[in-house]
Amino acid sequence: MTRSPKILVFDSGLGGLTVFSEIAKIRPNAEFVYCADDAGFPYGSWGEPELVARILAVMAAQIDQHEPDIVVIACNTASTLALPQLRARWPGVLFVGTVPAIKPAAAMSRTKLISVLATPGTVARDYTQKLIQEFAGGCAVTLVGSKHLAKLAESAIHGEEIADGAIASEIASCFVQREGARTDVIVLACTHYPLLLESFARLAPWPVDWIDSAPAIARRADQVLVENLGPDAPNGDAPRRRAIFTSGAAPSESLAATLARYGLPAA
Ligand code: DGL
Repeated sequence: MTRSPKILVFDSGLGGLTVFSEIAKIRPNAEFVYCADDAGFPYGSWGEPELVARILAVMAAQIDQHEPDIVVIACNTASTLALPQLRARWPGVLFVGTVPAIKPAAAMSRTKLISVLATPGTVARDYTQKLIQEFAGGCAVTLVGSKHLAKLAESAIHGEEIADGAIASEIASCFVQREGARTDVIVLACTHYPLLLESFARLAPWPVDWIDSAPAIARRADQVLVENLGPDAPNGDAPRRRAIFTSGAAPSESLAATLARYGLPAA
């Protein structure tokens, strides 16, 4: 027997909406809770032990309250650090994480110069180094840990105007020229960054392929659900969806309108 699953999508902020919207396309009948740990944002600059403790605490509250079938950690900074601890703590809950798409980037690159644009936390992770060793042996990989981009993306989705110069200086070191070759693939290894993709493409010194892993994460979440609960089931009622902010702050009018465009009324 199949039923509509309850999916908890989690990020430090609103970057995970880029993943949520892809899952919602594949699983339109699912019940969704989108949880933004805005009280802990940004995660990129947290120390590792403190961040693990934070994520486990937020998850404990969310899992207790919502009893999801699956939790999608729509955050590279959290996934590259805390997935093993989450799976160990809640063995009965399905978890799907978001990690830098280094494997497809290496396969796609012709110049074999690729860059990974992420938070300072994600570029410092052992997990990221392991991905590079395992999948990008033939490539020169430039890791760029941006201090400000996640905050700029968060401000943009809150309706603020962001100066081009602020974005351009954060992405500049992704573009490498060496022995007549240039970077041709850049991994968007933070779920906030696809929110700024139009600006990235416009401000890039030369065209590159930008890899957003959101569609692949959504396919993976769907596959895990099919394996464990069965295919999407029709749902008589309108699907229930809501956004939760750990700060308890009510979204501004402009943010509420943006969330509504994503099909997410704030709770
Ligand atoms: N969206 C998060 C990620 O994918 C990180 C943003 C942050 O909190 O620094 O890594």
